Amino acid sequence: DWNAEHIIEELVDGVRAQVGDGRVLLAISGGVDSSTLGLLLARAVGEKLTAVFIDHGLLRLGEREQVEAALRPLGVNLVTVDARAEFMAALEGVSDPEQKRKIIGREFIRAFEREAREYGPFDFLAQGTLYPDVIESAGGEGAANIKSHHNVGGLPDDLAFKLVEPFRTLFKDEVREIARLLGLPDAVRMRHPFPGPGLAIRCLGAISEEKLDILKRVDDIFISGLREFGLYDGCSQALAILTPIQSVGVMGDERTYSYTAALRAVTTDDFMTAEWARLPYDFLATMSNRIVNQVHEINRVVYDITGKPPATIEWE
Ligand code: XMP
Repeated sequence: DWNAEHIIEELVDGVRAQVGDGRVLLAISGGVDSSTLGLLLARAVGEKLTAVFIDHGLLRLGEREQVEAALRPLGVNLVTVDARAEFMAALEGVSDPEQKRKIIGREFIRAFEREAREYGPFDFLAQGTLYPDVIESAGGEGAANIKSHHNVGGLPDDLAFKLVEPFRTLFKDEVREIARLLGLPDAVRMRHPFPGPGLAIRCLGAISEEKLDILKRVDDIFISGLREFGLYDGCSQALAILTPIQSVGVMGDERTYSYTAALRAVTTDDFMTAEWARLPYDFLATMSNRIVNQVHEINRVVYDITGKPPATIEWE
């Protein structure tokens, strides 16, 4: 019989036993696993935890503020780092998706190492590794899941941490239940997964501040709309994509030549295969109207009706 309150006590005791008076470093991605881990560690070791949230500029509208508002009042010693300029510089002119991922991974480690030295020394590195990650090292929480994307053993000697992974025996649903008891707001707790490279792989081709800004506004309209119409929880993941396609449109008496935005929503159990979500036409019509009215750089909205396979969930 699974009792979340009891599990929390056990996890807290386990962390205390493992780390003693040691200092713990945690990368926060803004997803449910690392956020919940932040809350658990704050309860277990208080100020001995330093949680680092790197804002790489590829986050959704208001995401950094949302994470700060969710975690700081609950006692998480959270450092947010504005690394937007360095990520943007490193990604300039890069259009290949795998290249984007590599650069973002590298810049993330670089920024994280810098903060580890700035606030360190630390004895432990905490990770929100779940049971499914243990049995099959795929998935996880993107950039914050350092081990699955980058070998922790590859960090420099003075950053050779011991790992703290209290969620190694847990499934996602269990983490969500723990999160609820620890007071994580539902907006973060029930959030769809979001890739580590963030909006960089949803802004097709070479990214720019301007394009990211357009994409953030489109994404915010779509995600807020799904929540407003009670459709969010029925989708496994929903996203907006900014395509490089410009096409002719008409606005009043004027011809426009603007970008096409794509919306995608899927249902899936494991993200290995997925079906496109059968969102109501009226909802899609409302989204399309809102997007073209509020985001002037967009004059055409399409909905992706492709399953995985053959398409992937992301467009890059
Ligand atoms: P695809 O697009 O391959 O995505 O169908 C499957 C799931 O993985 C996420 N995804 C990523 N997550 N780093 C991540 O942390 C990545 O580079 C990455 N690429 C895709 C995607 O959002 C979906 O949930």
